[in-house]
Amino acid sequence: MSLETRNIPLSSPYLDERDEELVLEVLRSGRLSLGPAIDRFEQLFAEKVGAPYAAAVSSGTSGLHLLSVIGGLGEGDEVITSPYSFVASANCFVYEGATPVFADVDARTMNLDPAAVEAAITPRTKGIVAVDIFGYPCELDPLRELCERHGLVLIQDACEALGAEYKGRPVGSHGADAVFAFYPNKQMTTGEGGIVTTHSEETWKALVSLRNQGRADGGGWLDHARLGFNYRIDDVRAALGIGQIEKLDTILSLRQAAAARYGELLAGLDGLELPLADDADHVRSWFVYVVTLGQGVDRERVIDELARQGVATSRYLPSIHLQAYMRERYGFSEGLCPVSEDLSRRTLALPFFTAIGEDDQRYVAEALAAAL
Ligand SMILES: Cc1ncc(COP(=O)(O)O)c(C=O)c1O
Repeated sequence: MSLETRNIPLSSPYLDERDEELVLEVLRSGRLSLGPAIDRFEQLFAEKVGAPYAAAVSSGTSGLHLLSVIGGLGEGDEVITSPYSFVASANCFVYEGATPVFADVDARTMNLDPAAVEAAITPRTKGIVAVDIFGYPCELDPLRELCERHGLVLIQDACEALGAEYKGRPVGSHGADAVFAFYPNKQMTTGEGGIVTTHSEETWKALVSLRNQGRADGGGWLDHARLGFNYRIDDVRAALGIGQIEKLDTILSLRQAAAARYGELLAGLDGLELPLADDADHVRSWFVYVVTLGQGVDRERVIDELARQGVATSRYLPSIHLQAYMRERYGFSEGLCPVSEDLSRRTLALPFFTAIGEDDQRYVAEALAAAL
């Protein structure tokens, strides 16, 4: 190791003067909530992912919740989803009283295994929330086929997958309702924020009403046609979103290059598996760089040693069914989803962001090699 200790964060947003200009423009306009920047942002985003409609919302979580409401997921329904994800992909329908059913993931892709999903379907199953974890596209076609055959609602949690491609087309373009998120660690950010893309005009209209307190199309500000939410994004954040979308191609290619550099720097290290490579049907959008430690490796010791060298890491991701509130509410315990649980014990996110430099990555790789 070099003598100088660095401080390398896990993530960092990629912002420039254009973003500042656009935000300032909105601040100076005095129109801070619903305004023209939202329309523009939605239009640019929809074009980017190849979906006819997009509705921007306050977060990825609120977008997922709205699709759960629109899908009618509620009391007495079971919804099948991935245990190896961020909690919001299950919480979104739990809010409505539906019961989570966790099907195990595929050890390679870390996404829902369609065979496990099929085995989990019961007469009470009402929907599937499929996640593109770490930006790797899920098995959309087999999952859609299951949904069509059993009359289920499909929600695609693409919160980590902006820019990913499935079977040669962008995630968002295939027809499934999808949600993207813009927390500052994501490929692009609006601070807080999210967007729902859909191919159904009816769903889009429902989204636009539900995010805005159930206000009716063409109705007054104090006329509420349905039980809605305040899940609006505002023009300030949408302006930032425009700046980010404008440079999304650059962002995605810088992240791709950074991932490739890690691939070279970490190749051949004992006790370490690198993220799954793309294939003809799956092109990952690089959200995080998550490695899998070998069975015998003490992850806590690796984390501590990296922290001592100023390298931030995170235990991405704990299995959702083993979170305290899930155990208490539903009685879930170890052994329910062995593949997910094994990944949860062994995976580790390394510092990864759009502007990460080769020097920092070399430093991380040396620190990791030493720790292993
Ligand atoms: C897979 C997944 N689903 C949902 C969310 C929720 O997004 P947000 O934090 O914007 O509510 C996130 C992001 O944190 C995520 O990674």
